[in-house]
Amino acid sequence: MQSLLLPPDAPSLPLWVLSRDQDRSRLPETVRAWIAASGFKPAPGRVLTVPGPSGGLLGAVFGVEPDDAASRDPFLAANLARDLPAGAYRFEGALPDPRLAVLGFLLGSYRFDRYRKPDVRTVQLAVPHGVDVAEVVRIAEGVRLARDLVNTPSNDMGPEELESAARELAGRHGAAFDVVRGEALTRDFPLIEAVGASSPRAPRLLDLSWGDGSHPRVTIIGKGVCFDTGGLDIKPSSAMLLMKKDMGGAANALGLAHMIMDAGLPVRLRVLIPAVENAVSGHSFRPGDIFRSRKGLTVEIGNTDAEGRLVLADALALADEEEPELLIDLATLTGAARVALGPEIPPVFTDDEAFAREIVEISMAENDPVWRLPLWRRYERMIESKVADINNAGTGGHAGAITAALFLRRFVEKAKTYAHFDIFAWTPNARPGRPEGGEAHAIRAIYACLGKRYGA
Ligand code: BES
Ligand code: MN
Ligand code: ZN
Repeated sequence: MQSLLLPPDAPSLPLWVLSRDQDRSRLPETVRAWIAASGFKPAPGRVLTVPGPSGGLLGAVFGVEPDDAASRDPFLAANLARDLPAGAYRFEGALPDPRLAVLGFLLGSYRFDRYRKPDVRTVQLAVPHGVDVAEVVRIAEGVRLARDLVNTPSNDMGPEELESAARELAGRHGAAFDVVRGEALTRDFPLIEAVGASSPRAPRLLDLSWGDGSHPRVTIIGKGVCFDTGGLDIKPSSAMLLMKKDMGGAANALGLAHMIMDAGLPVRLRVLIPAVENAVSGHSFRPGDIFRSRKGLTVEIGNTDAEGRLVLADALALADEEEPELLIDLATLTGAARVALGPEIPPVFTDDEAFAREIVEISMAENDPVWRLPLWRRYERMIESKVADINNAGTGGHAGAITAALFLRRFVEKAKTYAHFDIFAWTPNARPGRPEGGEAHAIRAIYACLGKRYGA
């Protein structure tokens, strides 16, 4: 990834940055003439290669939005990786946000090539002066890790493979790594066991710890459902098709952990991942079953397809026991979150007003948007049970993302700040810097927020 970037003064061809109505007198005569001759309009994100006198490449023109554009995409530079011939390039002219342009370029260069020959054509970019290359690369690596894990199909990404990925990351950063499984899991994490027992690929709880014990405790939990059939409340095929991505919360938690550890942020980091497969078998849990959770609350199963909140509940209870300063979960938890906000903007749920304002604001600046939805307590009646303390599925079909968040909230009492992100972890239609497939959602925003709070 680093190899796609070059030092600012490396030999490179110019990319003339140009918006629609911008004065063109600064462009070389031949470039202006070629723009006119080819009838090129510098629409945002468009690229025009400019031939040199002897048939070589002189450079290229790169269309950007005018300064006052209402909706700006700071990742437009991602198109360069796709549209330019192989070679090294540098920007000529001011970009609105050079850091995000470079990041967008890296994120747009991503390919999932585990099962195919890699694309050998490389476009390299000389980084503009003032951009912190190490920081941009660190973020891009975290995103790549998350995308790779999501994109890997479930036959090669079960609970065991997810464990290996987390173990490898821990080893790379000198973090402690522990796995709870077997009898200990059955005894201490009944909800994780209940969901995961359906599959021959055994359920487990992954537990990574890193950093100085005297630093503020930050705990990140990721939903690690390696495939979600829905269980006995089985999903129709159209809804099951993408369910390899149901470990997207775990993938994003690991991507975020990479950023934090690589940057050496002064926090005590803990990452918890309940890794399970929600399968269909004679060992499946059933609608109507009741389980006593780790926290002691009894949970009635209204729907076996609401499995994410079950495995998260036990992990949240464990995390909460050590009273972290900040407790975050990332989960592909509900279809309802997509109905509300679509695939690009995950909702964030928190009672901490200051954190809510901060994360939304930073997320917009980072081009990794999140939007707050309410933990509307009166909807707790929708997840009441007549026979147990709580039901895992809401009645009435309203406010599905909120009732899921309210369910999780019941398992957290002591954490100073708790925030739940209901992420999609997938880009259904490619956009600049966001190829179709597995996606990192909210973690660049959270990382920036942590950097602001705890960074040097
Ligand atoms: N993993 C799904 C949620 C999901 C579906 C996320 C599609 C993204 C896209 C989750 O386990 C689930 O099945 N949720 C149900 C809950 C319902 C049964 C209460 C849902 O959202 O329909
Ligand atoms: Mn489900
Ligand atoms: Zn699920």
